[in-house]
Amino acid sequence: MKKTQDLEKRYIINTYNRQADTTPCLVRGAGSYVWDEKGNKYLDLLGGLAVNVVGHCHPQVVEAICEQAGKLIHTSNLYYGEPQAELARVLVENSLPDGKVFYANSGAEANEAAIKLARKHKESRFKIITAEKSFHGRTMATVTATGQPKYHQPFAPVVEGFSYGMFNDLESFKGLVDSETAAIMIEPIQGEGGVHVAKESFIRGLRELCDHEEILLIFDEVQCGMGRTGKLWAYENYGVKPDLLTTAKGLGGGMPIGVMIAAEKFSEALQPGDHASTFGGNHVVCSAALAVFDLILGNGFLEDVSRKGTIIQQEMESWIKEFPELFKEYRGQGLICALELKKPTAKDILAKCVESGLLINAIGDTTIRLLPPLNISESELMEGLGILKNIAVAVHE
Ligand SMILES: Cc1ncc(COP(=O)(O)O)c(C=O)c1O
Repeated sequence: MKKTQDLEKRYIINTYNRQADTTPCLVRGAGSYVWDEKGNKYLDLLGGLAVNVVGHCHPQVVEAICEQAGKLIHTSNLYYGEPQAELARVLVENSLPDGKVFYANSGAEANEAAIKLARKHKESRFKIITAEKSFHGRTMATVTATGQPKYHQPFAPVVEGFSYGMFNDLESFKGLVDSETAAIMIEPIQGEGGVHVAKESFIRGLRELCDHEEILLIFDEVQCGMGRTGKLWAYENYGVKPDLLTTAKGLGGGMPIGVMIAAEKFSEALQPGDHASTFGGNHVVCSAALAVFDLILGNGFLEDVSRKGTIIQQEMESWIKEFPELFKEYRGQGLICALELKKPTAKDILAKCVESGLLINAIGDTTIRLLPPLNISESELMEGLGILKNIAVAVHE
């Protein structure tokens, strides 16, 4: 372990603030568990920050990767590719059936593509409205789209043309629209911002507003999509469709991929030469994503996500009743959820959980976030929740 820590300290820019004494060095994973280099086992309720939707090293995903890697890894986008064409069909048939996709390598890049398309699709319209507390990525355009000033300040001046409405407040979005507005970009569930679920009236109202003003509605489902809410896409919970949809994280089951899907009438806005990515649509990555789709669209998979989400909600709500002085609120849907604490102990709880073999996430001082693998078993989930509750109670005592 020392060697890895020493190498990291010397050679890696410190953007992740790992703590030498408490952050494990993970070397192996299977299902809902990972192991560190000392052989310690951890139950993973963080799921690679919503990436490991079918757990760690799912045999079907591993097989798809190995088989494709043995055939052809990379060719460039100057040539056709079978896995990318097949994955595009699966993505489109399961989202915007008349749509088309653009392949990138991350959530930020998928959103960057959506922003570029939105700016190009109608001349003189370049402004994008997003929500306060949103998170859309770390490139210059997507960090500007992110409605959190702390991410802008060190990099000012940021990109022109972005403004921020209040999440779940339709009137504040209406007030920002003008004749130069190209798009509204929203996470149906804000993930990094603390797991805030959009109200149905808000999402439906945004759809009507965008139709009325002829502006694009972009749903960023990088974190809340790919089955996490118990539907393939979170927007299915609202009965409305976006014009552009972005997905990444869980799509590759751990392989780097980002996709923007555009409804047909808008996809034409991007023409040859307008946008590109060397690795976008890579053969191996797309083969992994096809295996992930095969699993999450399988019989009963998504229903099971909803069922387990209800278990978490009921559990956490019972904790709140039992310890109203410690726990404030449950937020979430399916397997994206947050427990709001009354005291600023999230980081202490996280550290103790790691010591006890449980991986969770803390947002700020008072929010615990869980993003477990979608195929976690009920007994694994209950085991993890039990550890979390005991530690949260003990930390407050
Ligand atoms: C909603 C949302 N959009 C975009 C991103 C950026 O994705 P990436 O880190 O893959 O660039 C994230 C990352 O957390 C996210 O949660």
